[in-house]
Amino acid sequence: MARAVAILRVLLRLRALRPVAILVVRGTAALAAVTRRAASLEPEVAAAAGLAAAGGGARATMALDPPLPEPAAELDALPSEATPAERRFLYAFFAHLWSGSGDVIEVGPFIGGTTRAIATGMLANPRRTPQARLYTYDRFGGYYEPDELAQYLAPLFEAGVLQGAHREAVERAGSFGEVFDAIHRDTPYAELVERRDKPLPDTAEEAARDDGLFELDPGAEPAAIFVDGCKSWYGTKYFMRATLDAARPGAQVIFQDYGWYTCFWIPAFVHAIGDAFAPTAWVDTTYAFHVQTPVAAADVDAVYPDAPDELGVDWFDDAFRQMREDAVRRGDVRAETVLAVQNAAALAYLGETGEARARIERMRGRARFRPLRPMIDAALRSPTYRPGGEQIRL
Ligand SMILES: C[S@@+](CC[C@H](N)C(=O)[O-])C[C@H]1O[C@@H](n2cnc3c(N)ncnc32)[C@H](O)[C@@H]1O
Repeated sequence: MARAVAILRVLLRLRALRPVAILVVRGTAALAAVTRRAASLEPEVAAAAGLAAAGGGARATMALDPPLPEPAAELDALPSEATPAERRFLYAFFAHLWSGSGDVIEVGPFIGGTTRAIATGMLANPRRTPQARLYTYDRFGGYYEPDELAQYLAPLFEAGVLQGAHREAVERAGSFGEVFDAIHRDTPYAELVERRDKPLPDTAEEAARDDGLFELDPGAEPAAIFVDGCKSWYGTKYFMRATLDAARPGAQVIFQDYGWYTCFWIPAFVHAIGDAFAPTAWVDTTYAFHVQTPVAAADVDAVYPDAPDELGVDWFDDAFRQMREDAVRRGDVRAETVLAVQNAAALAYLGETGEARARIERMRGRARFRPLRPMIDAALRSPTYRPGGEQIRL
C-alpha cells in the first residue's frame, strides 16, 4: 500500500502524467484505499477524477463526491445538450488537468453550453498561457427547425440576454451564430473564445464540392480537442485527421458522443486508432482520451476509411466485442449496453437491418440492460441515421 501511494505521488507531481494517475485510481476497484490516500495527497486531481467517476463502478472506486466548481450557477444558466455533470466535468478538466499551454479546439458548441464550461475552466487554470485560445467550430444553423429553436431559446429571450434582432435570425433561418455571440460577448472568458462558422463535410462529395469547410486556424496548436459536432462517419474522419495531425502526444481528446447510441462512428474511430489513444476519464456519455503517440493524417487514413462499408460487419463485431470487454473490466455497465446497441446500429448502417433488430430485441429481454430500456426502445425504432439526418428504420 505505501509503495502504491508513493508511485501515485510521483505520478501526480508530474503534471503530464496526471491523466495516467487518474486512470490508475479510477480503473481499479482494488485500489479504493489507495485512491482515498491519493485524494488527500492531491485534492485537485482527486476532485477532477471524482467528477469523472460518474459510472457506477467508478463511483464505488472513488468513493468521493464530485465537488461543485465555483461558477456552477453560470454553467447551468444556458440551455445545453450536454448534461450538468458533463459540463462540470469539462470545467474541472480544463481548470485542473489541461496543461494550460496550446489551444483548445471545440466542434459543435451549438449555443455554447459546453463552450462556457470549457472556457470557464480555462480561465480558472493557473497554468493558462496568455496565448491560449478556445477555437469553436460549427455550422451555426440547420440544426433545429426555426420554431423549435425559438422555443429552445425562449428562456434567454425572457431573461433579456437575447433581443428582437436575434429572434428574426432564429425565426427566419434557424441560425444561431449571432445568438452565440450575444450570449458570450460580455463574459469574463469572452477573449478566449474564437468562433468559426466552418462546417464539417458529412460526405466525401460535400468535401469535394463545398467551400468554407472546417480547417484549423493557421497557428492553432490543439492541446485539447472537444468533439460534439461529428454527426457522421465522414465528418469524424475529416475533423480527426486535421486536428490530430496538428496535435502532439499528451493532447487530450474528449468525445461527448462516445456513449451516445446513434453515433457508432465515434467509438469505432477510437478503436481503429488503437494504442495511439489511452483512456483518461468518463462522465455520462462523454469519454476522454489522451494521445500517446503522434497521429498523422495518413495514420487516420490507414485505419479509418471514408465510409464504414469498407470495413464490413466482421470488423464491427470484433471491434465492439473488444470495447464491451473493456467496459465490463472497468465496471461501466452503461457503456456495455450502449456499445452493444452501437454495434447493432453499425450493422443497420451496413444494410443488416434484420440482424440489427434481432440483436436489440434480445437486449431488451435482459434484466442487466433494464436501466437503459428507454434507449433500447428508441434504438428499436431507429438505431442511427445517415448524413443529413435521414433515420435508419428497423
Ligand atoms: C449536440 S449539439 C452540441 C451541443 C452543445 N455542445 C451544447 O453544449 O449544447 C451538435 C452541434 O453540432 C453541430 N453540427 C452538426 N453537424 C455539423 C457539421 N457537419 N459541421 C459543423 N457542425 C455540425 C450542430 O449545428 C450543433 O450545434
